[in-house]
Amino acid sequence: MEQKRESWGSRFGFLMAAAGSAVGLGNIWRFPYMTGMNGGGAFIVIYLGCVILVGLSIMIAEFAVGRRTQLAAVGAYKTYSNKWSFAGVLGVLSGFFIMGFYPVVGGWSMYYIIKSLTGLLAVPEAIGDVFGAFIGNPVQPVIWMLVYLAVNLFIVARGVQAGIELAGKILMPILYVLLIIVTLKGFTIPGASEGLRYLFVPNWSEVTGGTFLAALGQAFFSLSLGMGCMITYGSYLNKEEKLPNNALIVVSLDTSVALLAGLAMFPALFAFGLEPTQGPGLVFVVVPQIFASMGGIGPLFSAIFFVALFIAALTSSVSLLEVCVAYLMDEKKVDRRKATYGTGVVMAILCTLSSLSLGAMSGVTFLGVGAFDFFDILTDKIFLAIGGALLAIFAGWFLKKEDLKDELTNGGTLQFGLFEVWYNVVKYVIPVLVGIVAAVGIASIEQTGLMLFGLGIIVVLAIFSKKL
Ligand code: PHE
Repeated sequence: MEQKRESWGSRFGFLMAAAGSAVGLGNIWRFPYMTGMNGGGAFIVIYLGCVILVGLSIMIAEFAVGRRTQLAAVGAYKTYSNKWSFAGVLGVLSGFFIMGFYPVVGGWSMYYIIKSLTGLLAVPEAIGDVFGAFIGNPVQPVIWMLVYLAVNLFIVARGVQAGIELAGKILMPILYVLLIIVTLKGFTIPGASEGLRYLFVPNWSEVTGGTFLAALGQAFFSLSLGMGCMITYGSYLNKEEKLPNNALIVVSLDTSVALLAGLAMFPALFAFGLEPTQGPGLVFVVVPQIFASMGGIGPLFSAIFFVALFIAALTSSVSLLEVCVAYLMDEKKVDRRKATYGTGVVMAILCTLSSLSLGAMSGVTFLGVGAFDFFDILTDKIFLAIGGALLAIFAGWFLKKEDLKDELTNGGTLQFGLFEVWYNVVKYVIPVLVGIVAAVGIASIEQTGLMLFGLGIIVVLAIFSKKL
């Protein structure tokens, strides 16, 4: 507990930790395939709208609430009233459920490092089949998931120390460089321009209420918002830092990686005649193909790319796990190691179910979907958006305006010219906008049972708030 109230060593350290949390599978794995499944350019325009209008303001709000209260999510809400603790617990639950599938994909990235190096991805034609066979295998992906999860547990059990920050500082730039190389390489493949058109010429005919929710959910997921992660990180921040500037930097870094990933993937995808709608396998199929087509040391680049993907994922899942562990430590007084390993065991079980749901157990569904989709839809489409809206309502309607102003201007010593704009966006625009998008989008979720289950959890949490 004592140790948790430490502040970040440096501004760069904080930025890398926050950007490390934000930049992850959401940008490189999820963003491209979501774009592909939601019609391309139109999705990107809506996504950028969500990031600028909603994401940035909420990130500023999360930082402000965290630094003001000096507490992680649940505690921060509680300082205002016990009635609000459910909003924090909803966040913890979101983190917990995201960890029900995230490590599965993290495990894939580890396996693909080795696959690339052992030459198994050198035959372009076979790459799609290799992926399909791998994730459907009942043993291998489960083992890699466990290895991936173990690395997370190891780091979090010791406290998030210089190791992970250092890895972020070194590997994030490498990730950028590699994405740029892949992008440039992709542009040179004949037929690439169709991919660019797909990305940048919006086709509005495919847009539905569901597209807006998909974009909003993706924005929350990618920016690590709506679940208290940035509240927690903000709580370790010293009083000199300029919150709005830092939020802008984190949002820009995150968005640029997502766009770069799209740029790297789509031209090649079209050039190779692959399906943009193929879903979660996209990055695992397209990237090895680009490098395999280079021949020579191509596979080496492929391996480095997956190392970078693994690191990006790791710095994110560590933050997800940390939110759960911080809750158990702060609110339930469990010690760090017990909290970490206890949560880890449960996560391992959830992830095993998720992994098996893509193959051996694909027939087993709960409320209409397999485990992997269950955790994904529940968090991304329901919990995060509602969590974000609750935070905006909390900040806009329950906290004192002067306190927020004081926090965002560092006690009046800084200018934050857009304060009024920000405040009104948080107070009025976000609750209404997110409310509408969430209502329309959630109503359009095909699995009605799942939708009601998700909403039911929120209601139950709200009722038992005082016990949380
Ligand atoms: N932002 C991370 C990613 O894009 C995932 C994440 C979500 C991390 C929520 C923390 C909190 O992969």
